[in-house]
Amino acid sequence: MATDSGIDSARILREQYKDGSNLSARIRLHQRFSTNRYGQMRWIHDRIQIPENARVLELGCGTGLLWRGAVKVPPGWRVILTDMSDGMLRETRAHVARLGHSFAYMQADAQAIPFRDESFDAVIANHMLYHVPDIPRALAEVRRVLKPSGFCYAATMGRANMKEMNELAARFFSIARMTESTERFGLESGEAYMRAAFSEVKLDRYPDSLVITEAAPLMDYINSMRVRRRITDDQIAALRTHLENEIATHGEIRMTKDSGLFIARR
Ligand SMILES: C[S@@+](CC[C@H](N)C(=O)[O-])C[C@H]1O[C@@H](n2cnc3c(N)ncnc32)[C@H](O)[C@@H]1O
Repeated sequence: MATDSGIDSARILREQYKDGSNLSARIRLHQRFSTNRYGQMRWIHDRIQIPENARVLELGCGTGLLWRGAVKVPPGWRVILTDMSDGMLRETRAHVARLGHSFAYMQADAQAIPFRDESFDAVIANHMLYHVPDIPRALAEVRRVLKPSGFCYAATMGRANMKEMNELAARFFSIARMTESTERFGLESGEAYMRAAFSEVKLDRYPDSLVITEAAPLMDYINSMRVRRRITDDQIAALRTHLENEIATHGEIRMTKDSGLFIARR
């Protein structure tokens, strides 16, 4: 496994997110084959309960997915999107600007947030805390920049998320898991970190599943994670054949989804 040292992890993370292509391959699978058509981003927006005039900071915004669907952004919100990757941020700025939002953008590491104390009504950190080397430090930073009445919103996955993918990884790649994310900061492992940093923490789960009817988007998903693992072309070819046979025989591949949102009051 290539994630043994901190230096390797930082290099792999930089490579993984040098632009939006890997993340977009994974998002495409979820957008096409998720059974809950409400949409997790819209569901997250429903839960952001802050004033009409508010300052909102997103950490690790990725491709700006949270803002790109059918969501209404109150005109009084001043939104700042940040990410550690400038390549990611460049793409996001282009996408989000096309929607007419006049957001601000800044390259920033969640472990050293470049804003003053008590300056935001909401800080959003979706599917990114598991990448941060020092999670308590990042959450202390979130707490520092939140106003006393402010909220932190942090979406992540539970251990059961795409467990069928781990079964495939064990069978075809001889590895226990495709990713260590849920072990680092998942719905189960993240709660203690959140409770240590914030006065009140609640967890809402988003019900969903995947019914995948084409092998290619699933292979794109798996290939998007390949930079993290030493997986050979032969192993990938064997898995592709297996998935194509499954779909030819059963018409679909079903996968469990397990995701949710921590909502924390400063
Ligand atoms: C899985 S993506 C999630 C993107 C987005 N929040 C979403 O839900 O679609 C993780 C993002 O976190 C960013 N990231 C990783 N470590 C970070 C850090 N220490 N500080 C800020 N951003 C970071 C990556 O560059 C990447 O864009």
